[in-house]
Amino acid sequence: MSHLIAPSILSADFAHLASAIEMLNKSAADRIHVDIMDGVFVPNISFGFPILKAIKKLASKPLDVHLMIIQPERYITQFKDAGADTLIVHIEACPHLHNTLQAIKQEGMRAGIAINPHTAIHALDAIIEEIEQLLIMSVNPGFGGQELIAHTYRKIELARQLIDKNKAKAIIGIDGGVDLNNATKLIATGADLLVSGSSIFKSTNPARTIAQLKAL
Ligand code: DX5
Ligand code: ZN
Repeated sequence: MSHLIAPSILSADFAHLASAIEMLNKSAADRIHVDIMDGVFVPNISFGFPILKAIKKLASKPLDVHLMIIQPERYITQFKDAGADTLIVHIEACPHLHNTLQAIKQEGMRAGIAINPHTAIHALDAIIEEIEQLLIMSVNPGFGGQELIAHTYRKIELARQLIDKNKAKAIIGIDGGVDLNNATKLIATGADLLVSGSSIFKSTNPARTIAQLKAL
């Protein structure tokens, strides 16, 4: 399987959201990554259901919705109704993670787990078989435009071992600080999906940057 590219809409110009989505529709992007932040789980607030619904109305590609919120189990049906195809919750935000993942799947969405930089891959030993996507945070979540943490490579190796050992179906996504300089190494180490915000939207030609990331 060739690697997947999921541009993060967080770095788009929100005054021109429609044109950003039209660009993504026509681009080599496989999915659109949508960051939801509540100002509690992370020290930043992004946007909620109205914007997600607006994105869904225009997008021709699946939406990976990354919840950086506490108590995500309270909003699963609302995220389904707002257009999420994959719903990704943080392991650090879910005391009853197994239950939350079942609820996501019961709503007909794909389930994903995101893990913060300090959370060990071991924490997934008993749950890896339940998910379609493991999103390894390569920055501390909350903001776009940060630098990738080098320990991420080691975590990709360990995640790959865990997935292979369990014959699990989860793909490995990397989120934060991904750019054309580190993408090749991330893929070679075992990443299946690259999320990228600022390296795409701050480039002079976002569609070309997506094509370049996809062609690596
Ligand atoms: C970080 C978000 C990321 C972010 C990535 O909290 O989860 O998805 O948008 O942006 P870049 O690629 O700029 O690090
Ligand atoms: Zn994200």
